[in-house]
Amino acid sequence: MRVLGINAIFHDPAAALVVDGRVVAAAEEERFSRRKHGKRPVPFAAWEQPELAAAWCLRSAGLGPGDIDAVAYSFDPGLTRDLATMGVTDPSDAMRVDYARRAPQFLATALPGLDPERVRFVPHHVAHAASAGLSVPEDNAVLVLDGRGEVASHLAGVYRGGELTTLRTQELPHSLGLLYEDLTRHLGFLHSSDEYKVMALASYGQPRFLDMFRELVRPTGDGGFVVERIDWAALTKPRHADGEINDDHADLAASVQTRLEEVMLDLARWTYDAAGGPKTLTMAGGTALNCVANARIAAEGPFERVWVQPAAGDSGTALGAALALGSAPVEFTTAALGRGWSDEELEAELRRAALPYTRPESIAAEAARVLAGNGIVAWYQGRSEYGPRALGHRSLLAHPGDADTQRRMNDVKGREQFRPIAPMVRAERFAEIFEGVCPSPYMLFVHRVRPEWRDRIPAVTHVDGTARVQTVHTETEPLVAAMLAEFDRLTGLPVVVNTSLNTAGRPMVDTPREAMELFGSAPVDLLAMGPFAVHRTKAFAA
Ligand SMILES: [Fe+2]
Repeated sequence: MRVLGINAIFHDPAAALVVDGRVVAAAEEERFSRRKHGKRPVPFAAWEQPELAAAWCLRSAGLGPGDIDAVAYSFDPGLTRDLATMGVTDPSDAMRVDYARRAPQFLATALPGLDPERVRFVPHHVAHAASAGLSVPEDNAVLVLDGRGEVASHLAGVYRGGELTTLRTQELPHSLGLLYEDLTRHLGFLHSSDEYKVMALASYGQPRFLDMFRELVRPTGDGGFVVERIDWAALTKPRHADGEINDDHADLAASVQTRLEEVMLDLARWTYDAAGGPKTLTMAGGTALNCVANARIAAEGPFERVWVQPAAGDSGTALGAALALGSAPVEFTTAALGRGWSDEELEAELRRAALPYTRPESIAAEAARVLAGNGIVAWYQGRSEYGPRALGHRSLLAHPGDADTQRRMNDVKGREQFRPIAPMVRAERFAEIFEGVCPSPYMLFVHRVRPEWRDRIPAVTHVDGTARVQTVHTETEPLVAAMLAEFDRLTGLPVVVNTSLNTAGRPMVDTPREAMELFGSAPVDLLAMGPFAVHRTKAFAA
């Protein structure tokens, strides 16, 4: 059975291909179109399909649109209701539903040869749930939280033998995702995009509005929750995009963040009981990208294991919708499901760009040497990552021991200076340095840095003594593990700074050409592209 999954309804359009129960390919449209998040989440954009990503998914498997048994579209327009009853005030929202109904025709136009009759509508939260619950082999409880789907913002359920039983949904207008989006907008950031910045800002503040938020945002005791209308302007002045960030902003972020954690923990506990106490909780939905809340659920919740889908945002519903139609669990072992190039293709690209390159005996050792000398490395290896995090395939790497690294990296990437940068660590050394969830191969939890290590890796230790860690396992990421081992040998530190390979406002680098463009336009010392090395000192005359 060949199922093409499509997310196109709100934001982060993406496509995924599942063939006979195997995830063959999955990628966000932004990596192809170079428009960050693919499109803005306005109703008018709902007609746009992830046509480049979908065409690539098919091509990569040697299939054409006519070879597909089913297309799974991650929104079911048949489930929607009158807008007023959902508290949706935008009258043009009806357009979104109209466009969703016509998705089969839009898809048939985008992918000539596709039979529109093969398009199936999968409920949005069922798609999110499947992206997590069908990605682990064991039975599990599943918790989905996002801004909104058709009529709800939440689903709690349980997967037994690959079958989902829904235990509870929370209908709109109550939404933890929209609460966080509203806060993001009030603080002058881009909503449906910059929520992770608010999470970082929260750690600088005191939750002095927490009592008020405990009244306004509360679990109902039956697995659901209430979010009252919030008069944000009465709490702090709205911040403009280029306005200064002050303590009030940080305190507001801290208050909402803390309340979000408390409510999510409550929902996780309810789900555990209602699901009959399974060992594993899986999570998806944009709110599950909140790695601070995830870490609290793992630490304080009742589950032995918490597994979060790395493409937890809407892009992951492309995969989830495809899995929901197949319904047998697949073990998700890597997020490297996007495009990749052969060594020959990479070499041809380097030649075409006339960049002086070498093929060292070990690209891992070459990169480690540059990093040990406090250089910055653009690390372009294998297939690109599905989901918002760079996990050692399209990464920008640096030395964690220099306190100034954070400023340099934020400068290279044009980011706000309050933003933390994250470490990757060899899994076997994790426990010596960090506390918390391990394995953590997808950077979806925060961890405490052990006090004796904080001064040794200041670049990756956030203001509150935490770090968002990626654990690197030799079995799944041998090349990254080899680079870390060599860096450890040279410096005594089994940790390297890992941020995404992009510059301000741009999607992550996907093609070799984009990697070379970034190398040419940012102060990066080494481009490690496949087995090839391009040194800045040799590429550009001083
Ligand atoms: Fe969603």
